[in-house]
Amino acid sequence: MAAHVSRIKGFADMFPPDSDAFGFLEDTARRVFSRCGFVELRTPVLEYTDLFRRSIGEETDVVQKEMFTFPDRNDRLMTLRPEATAGVMRAYIEDARHTRESVSRLFTTGPMFRYERPQKGRMRQFHQLNCECLGSHSPYADADMIAMLMRFLREIGLRELTLKINSLGCSTCRPLFKQALVEYLNGLAGQGGLCEDCSRRMQTNPLRVLDCKQEGCRRLTDAAPRLLDFNCPDCRAHFDTVIRLLEAEHIPFELDHRLVRGLDYYCRTTFEVVSGNIGSQSAVAGGGRYDGLVKSLGGPDVPGVGFACGMERLALLLPQQAPKRPLFYALGMNEDARALCFSLAQRLREAGFAGEIHTGDGGFKSAMRQAGKSGAHYCLIIGEDEAASGTVMVKDMDSGEQQAVPQSDVVQHLASTLGGTDHE
Ligand code: HAM
Repeated sequence: MAAHVSRIKGFADMFPPDSDAFGFLEDTARRVFSRCGFVELRTPVLEYTDLFRRSIGEETDVVQKEMFTFPDRNDRLMTLRPEATAGVMRAYIEDARHTRESVSRLFTTGPMFRYERPQKGRMRQFHQLNCECLGSHSPYADADMIAMLMRFLREIGLRELTLKINSLGCSTCRPLFKQALVEYLNGLAGQGGLCEDCSRRMQTNPLRVLDCKQEGCRRLTDAAPRLLDFNCPDCRAHFDTVIRLLEAEHIPFELDHRLVRGLDYYCRTTFEVVSGNIGSQSAVAGGGRYDGLVKSLGGPDVPGVGFACGMERLALLLPQQAPKRPLFYALGMNEDARALCFSLAQRLREAGFAGEIHTGDGGFKSAMRQAGKSGAHYCLIIGEDEAASGTVMVKDMDSGEQQAVPQSDVVQHLASTLGGTDHE
């Protein structure tokens, strides 16, 4: 046998039940999000690298070390999208959406790519369900997004999750916070102890020191200045309204002063949803407000707020779904009977019934084994006798009972046996 070409590290193939779980997540997301006015936007997986540099930020981990970037045949740098927001902004600007609607609510789903060390819940190709609401400054938009996210998570059956929330302030108040934080971090210099990454981040992206996972760094930053204490009155009022709306809807949350997010475009409200049940990669969703982003990419001065859920991580939390069972398995015992089964199967599917035809070799026993393995509720058998009498043997695979039914009546027979139950 020739050597096979293997799958790329950090990239996954997905058979059922994993692919079923993804289908369920996407179906539920479309249903829940469209109830809030979201429409679907599909954007390419490949974009010019500049788009991500300018939106996510030069000093972020994503841009510095996690992008799949390569030159095309004309030496232009391209990047496989590490997230959806940047591409959605580009599409929004290029389509001049703001000239047609004052608020755009856009849902995007698909694969994203980050060159991270693969582990449970962390892949190099992963999938997001992503929502962006563009055009509203209102804290009601933030709260509505968070409420929608939490409703989606409830509808897929997840309850034991924690919503964390913070406010990063704006371009007026955040520089003051940054300055205070850098002063605080400089004051720590004598104590040593910040990890290598944080010592670098102190210069390049000091806010990220706050969300370092290392125990030592966390201890040292426990007494660091807090973003909320530096919020200007407008930012504070905005945040207070978001909080009040969440409380009024009984949506539990925790204030987390370390929640600074890993992407540079955020301002004001930021949030994450974490689970205690999937190991160290615990964030199942993250998002926030990004008021300057569209403008910084050459578009109009339009504010926005959004979030993305990681589908692999949600799938880890979903209860195992029972595999779907086809309704019928049609089995012909000779050439003529096989042709009859083939056309019977087409009629049944036309009528909305799900099922398979037997295409394997071997005798009756092996065919029945395959019928059993298919999980079908009914095996439809046409042997010599049935072919001669124009009937089909309908065998209930759970009870073992069987009944000869005229071939012309099979669709009607199955429909009445099943009554109003869902037969797909
Ligand atoms: P993010 O926090 O970088 O935000 O990613 C959102 C979610 O994607 C994470 O919470 C996690 O569940 C999932 N995720 C990220 N990286 C991986 C990975 N390597 N493997 C598996 N899952 C992963 C964003 O991407 C923002 N664009 C969200 C947003 C939309 N903000 C505003 N609008």
